[in-house]
Amino acid sequence: MNLTLKIWRQKDAKSQGKIVDYQVKGIEGDMSFLEMLDVLNEQLINKGEDPVVFDHDCREGICGACSLQINGEPHGPDRLVTTCQLHMRKFKDGDTIYIEPFRAKAFPVVKDLMVDRSSFERIQQSGGYISVNTSGNTQDANAIPIPKKDADEAMDAATCIGCGACVAACKNASAMLFTSAKVSQFALLPQGQVEATERVLAMVNQMDEEGFGNCTNTGACEIECPKGISLENIARMNREYLKASTKG
Ligand code: SF4
Ligand code: FES
Repeated sequence: MNLTLKIWRQKDAKSQGKIVDYQVKGIEGDMSFLEMLDVLNEQLINKGEDPVVFDHDCREGICGACSLQINGEPHGPDRLVTTCQLHMRKFKDGDTIYIEPFRAKAFPVVKDLMVDRSSFERIQQSGGYISVNTSGNTQDANAIPIPKKDADEAMDAATCIGCGACVAACKNASAMLFTSAKVSQFALLPQGQVEATERVLAMVNQMDEEGFGNCTNTGACEIECPKGISLENIARMNREYLKASTKG
């Protein structure tokens, strides 16, 4: 495949960015989207030009680093995959592909296609944990029976990889799907009850402080989420928040 790429280039957070056109040749359908960008970068390096900066780590859909807006869609045209799992067979010879960073005030551009998503880290740090004494006197996991349905739903919520596609897909740049997944994975389990009140209040507060927008129930986040995180988590977080706000 020969492709025309229209890629967002931006020196740093303060500089103005622009779309720059590139041509790549000989792209195989079995290549991942990131491998296609590797081909482009090799070309640029060989010509003595600045390669395109993009984020990646695991390249197998686990870490959530590879966040690209491809033809206007977070993680591109496929469903339930991250950018690193997107195959070039989803495109055809002669296609023009627009590649941009995830856009949100709370995700400032670091360079080119790489954004700073440490706002997600700060939401996690504000309450996305449980305090458990693990110094030698832990009880057996099976001592706390958990209904299968709750365990499954908690596990589903815990599959969120913090990629930020939900924010990029949302017209309000809302982080409700991400935050609600992190709240839900504990709210559904007995181990999460001890700090449940403080957790949801702190995480929602941090989410607002970071500058993410509000949820208006458009559902774009759920559609673009590579891990299929359900909107039900947002409803659960709203209930948890209401319960916590009316306590004390
Ligand atoms: S909820 Fe989905 S889209 Fe949002 S950060 Fe988690 S995995 Fe990514
Ligand atoms: S590089 Fe880790 S999810 Fe894509």
